Order: sequence, then structure tokens, then C-alpha cells
Amino acid sequence: MRLVEHAGLAALHLLDPETAHGLSLRALSWGLVPLPGAVTTPRLRTRLAGLNLPNPVGLAAGYDKNAEAVGPLTRAGFGFVEIGAATPLPQPGNPRPRLFRLPEDRAVINRFGFNNDGAAAIAARLARAGRRVPVGINLGANKASADRAADFARVLATAGPHVDFATVNVSSPNTERLRDLQGKAALAALLAGVIATRDALARPVPVFLKIAPDLTEAELEDVAEVASASGIDGVIATNTTLSREGLKSRHRAEAGGLSGTPLFARSTRVLARLSLLTDGRLPLIGVGGIASADDAWEKIRAGASAVQLYTAMVYRGLSLVTDIARGLDARLAREGFANVAEAVGSGREEWL
Ligand code: FNR
Repeated sequence: MRLVEHAGLAALHLLDPETAHGLSLRALSWGLVPLPGAVTTPRLRTRLAGLNLPNPVGLAAGYDKNAEAVGPLTRAGFGFVEIGAATPLPQPGNPRPRLFRLPEDRAVINRFGFNNDGAAAIAARLARAGRRVPVGINLGANKASADRAADFARVLATAGPHVDFATVNVSSPNTERLRDLQGKAALAALLAGVIATRDALARPVPVFLKIAPDLTEAELEDVAEVASASGIDGVIATNTTLSREGLKSRHRAEAGGLSGTPLFARSTRVLARLSLLTDGRLPLIGVGGIASADDAWEKIRAGASAVQLYTAMVYRGLSLVTDIARGLDARLAREGFANVAEAVGSGREEWL
């Protein structure tokens, strides 16, 4: 199976990256990809903001923006899956090309700009999908919206009945001025609207806030303060970065958000700082550059209760997910931890 996967990846990498991604999603949704099912052990089972995860390794937002392969993705080994970003109205996003592989750096640059089919179509697909593990929706705002802050609540109202969690994404670098919503007053007002909408759902779901890795220490302090006071259930750290430090690949100067290996240290430092600032009061989800069980383990040691990944799968395929979950289980056993929760933050000092 690994051989077939490697041959498949090599063939996909001959294509334009967005076309290749569309093909892999289609292959998944048509049932052409062998799926291992849930990976779980008593050590891996994780409770995250009231959600029961079979393991703490999740799919990050942006991989299945339109909920086209939800069922298969929940059987791919992930402990939870995030769909989207969805915006209230459908929108085309930025012109192509808008996705670039940086193979020498094990990285990707994207400037999609929230291309998606809109909340109604995505909610309808989510309603039909089987959910074997918790599934969430990444909430976004329309580029042309007159009230972007209200867009997050609108998407939650539409998709909320069909998901297990939702993420407020004010950290995408590809919608101009979106990240201004991370400022103290704007963020507090936005989160209040989202929480009110969440509380009005027949089945209220946990709400997470996803932040950028490029916040200053002062901005991070503000985010921690507002997040703690707002009634949200956790923070996802981090989205893609605008930094271009130390890159070698041809496409290194493309505009957009950088993800993958070069993001790992930066996003893990933000995670550790946030863990210190919130002192274990808010569950944190660590994302950014995870490509191995060791990387996932570092995020947990830095303060993450669960992790997510995307870019490493571009280079290693879906089988990486089970490798990471199993490797994490072995690591917990070796280090003498009975479960993930016990290990959270155990190495935080090293990242501060
Ligand atoms: C993303 N990411 C993302 N995040 C988000 O909150 N909403 C989104 O719509 C998207 N879209 C998106 C598209 C593409 C092509 C990529 C590569 C990434 C960010 C993603 O969820 C994650 O936070 C970062 O990519 C860092 O993790 P990795 O990729 O280094 O594991």
C-alpha cells in the first residue's frame, strides 16, 4: 500500500498543486483510497472541550474546504476533522495560481482567499455526511461583506446543527484586513456574537479561536485575555505565517501564507507562550509544521491537548496520520504517561 501511495504522490506532484489536490479529494470521496479507520488506544483517547477524540491527531482546516470527503476523512485515522473555511456566501477566492509547493523546504504557500461554495451548500453536505469522529467547521468572512464580524456567527448559525465544533478563523493572511479582527476590542465583540449564536443552537458546540503565528507578545497577551474572558472553549495555534525566513525553494517569494516544516518552531513558540498566559485554563490545539510523531509530541509538551496537520500530507500522503497516532502512543508508553492529558505542557519551559 505504501508503494502505491508513493507512486501516486509522485504522479500528483507532476500536476499543478491545486489540480493535484482536487484529484486526491475526488479519489477519497469516490472511495478509491484504502482507509484504516479510527486509530485508538486508552493512552490516545482524549477529551477536548467536551469532545471525545479517539486520538489527538486532527485534520487542519483548508484541506476539505467544501465538505466533499467528510465521511472518508473521518475514517482516515484522524481523531477529529475540521472542514472549511466556509463563508456566508459562495466566493471564488483569488485568481490561480494560488497554491505553491516548496519541496526543498517541505512547505507550501497558499493564497486561496477563502474560495468556497458558501455556508448553505457546505452545511447541506455536512448534514448528509457520516461523522465517525468529531467534525468541525472553520468559520470565515466574505471578502465583500459589509459586516465581517457578523459573518462568523452567520456561518455558525447555518452549519452549527451539523457539526461537533466550530473555529473562528481571524488569522488567515489571505483576506485583506481580516487579521485586524484579532485586536482586543474587535475580537471581544466578534466572539460575543459567535458565543450568543452558539448558545442559541439546539445543541451548543464548543467554539475555538484560531490565531496567527505572527502576533507580537503584546498582541498575544491581548488575545489570551479576551479568549479567557469570552466564554470560548479553546485556541488553535497557529495558522500560516507571512515569514519567509530560511527558505530555499523556487516559489519562496510567492505571496500568501506559508505552512509546513519552516512554520514548526514559530508556531510551537506561540503555543507555549499562550499556554503560559492562559495557565492551563483553556485547551490549546497545536498546529504548524507537524510531520512526525516526534513533532506532535513536541506540540503536546509545549502545551497542546490535541494537534492538527495539513502540509506534511502533501509530501507523505494520508498514511502519515496513522504513523503519527501510533508513534505518539508508543512515545507516551515509553515516557511513562498513562494518557495524552498527563503529558500536556510537560516541556513548555523549553519553548519559552
Ligand atoms: C490552510 N489553512 C487554513 N486555515 C484555516 O483556518 N482556514 C482555511 O481555510 C485554511 N486554508 C488552508 C489552505 C491551504 C492550502 C493550507 C496549506 C493551509 C491553515 C492550516 O489549517 C494550518 O493552520 C497551517 O497550514 C499549518 O499547519 P501545517 O499545514 O503546517 O500542518
